[in-house]
Amino acid sequence: MSDHSPLTTLIVGSGGREHTIAKISVDSPLVGRTLAAPGNPGIAQICECHSVGGDDIDGLLKLANNEDVNFVIVGPEVPLCLGLVDRLNEKGILAYGPKADGARFEGSKTFTKELLLKYNIPTGAAANFDNAQAAIEYLGTASYPIVVKADGLAAGKGVIIAEDHETATQTVSDMIDGGAFGDSGKTVLIEECLFGEETSIHVIVSGKDYVILPTSQDHKQVFEGDTGPNTGGMGAYSPADLIDEAMMRHIEEIIVKPSVDGIAAEGIDFRGTLFIGLMMTKTGPKVLEYNTRFGDPETQVLLTRLETDPVAIMLAAAKGELTKIDVKVKDEYAMVVVLASKGYPENYPKGEAISFPETVGENEFIFHAGTTSSEAGDVVTNGGRVLGVTALGTNLKEASQKAYALCDKINFKSKYLRRDIGAKELNRS
Ligand code: AMP
Ligand code: GLY
Repeated sequence: MSDHSPLTTLIVGSGGREHTIAKISVDSPLVGRTLAAPGNPGIAQICECHSVGGDDIDGLLKLANNEDVNFVIVGPEVPLCLGLVDRLNEKGILAYGPKADGARFEGSKTFTKELLLKYNIPTGAAANFDNAQAAIEYLGTASYPIVVKADGLAAGKGVIIAEDHETATQTVSDMIDGGAFGDSGKTVLIEECLFGEETSIHVIVSGKDYVILPTSQDHKQVFEGDTGPNTGGMGAYSPADLIDEAMMRHIEEIIVKPSVDGIAAEGIDFRGTLFIGLMMTKTGPKVLEYNTRFGDPETQVLLTRLETDPVAIMLAAAKGELTKIDVKVKDEYAMVVVLASKGYPENYPKGEAISFPETVGENEFIFHAGTTSSEAGDVVTNGGRVLGVTALGTNLKEASQKAYALCDKINFKSKYLRRDIGAKELNRS
């Protein structure tokens, strides 16, 4: 591949994050052809989708090979942890996303905690156990509430905030001895409960180099007023005022730089997104977790706000040339509101017909997440989070008004949304 020939990209994944990435790939002047695997009906409207699952590493390799793909952008954590990027690189195919050694920071909470403690990065005190009896003894002297975490991947469900000793011991037994979360729960991390407002930052990393993306704020809880169970995220906006410029400089100094340097010092050549979950405590920001991929729905507001072609940034990171890129951000606000199926994150119906507006305005996007095509060829609901309705505006209020107006033009029987995405910040200003 010469440096100037158009790229054939492959986007791995099937959610709203991947629809956003597919869109920026289709729009990128660097890209001649975009493929997705497995994609979704929204992605299929803009590029070719191939029915290869995100966890089918051999299938993805074969697809990339057969279709002369020269740049793969990996959305979710599972293929990263399974070593997709290692295998692609062995075949000489560039990819955005860490290799398995870097993805372990998302795949193992104890591995991350060791790094945080070794490099003095602020985080909650914690201890890990693979023996239920030892864990229960430790819980006898702990103060409550306390947080019990399954070490491995658990689709966002492996963290329990235990209000009392009884709940904590039951959770530990269920995880270590009871097989809850399978192998992911065989080791548990017991962590000090942190209090404050929760937020996150996205950092594009390439070895020792990094670029911090604009701030964004997710809304994890299912009901308005941040109540109810945690979800994958019910909506987000960017920029977010919880982290102002001075706080960002502080976070960079005490968290971002030591994290990137620490990962490199461990001999890991990380090329992808380090998405750092933070609790803004009274004693300063503390790390809750590292994810090693873009957030969903944060991607929908982060990538649509970039002035610089996001494909160029990811390509530079994959090549180890991040310092050559000057990342510029649009002067606009973005908001994404998730249209979910009522009942999510527990039980919800599937297969409901969705009606869409005939046209969508400029700088407004309907990103598909949990949708599929019915036998009759109609787009129907197929997941808890169905669509990510996104809009840009000159300020947060305008972005919010545009996003909600678009939400009102989309219908399905069990449509559920939070009406208060960004409300805290709108009320502050
Ligand atoms: P994690 O996957 O580690 O980010 O945990 C999932 C969610 O659990 C976080 O987004 C927080 O809302 C909550 N959480 C995790 N760790 C803690 C902690 N130490 N203190 C309080 N809440 C936590
Ligand atoms: N929105 C949170 C996540 O992607 O993990």
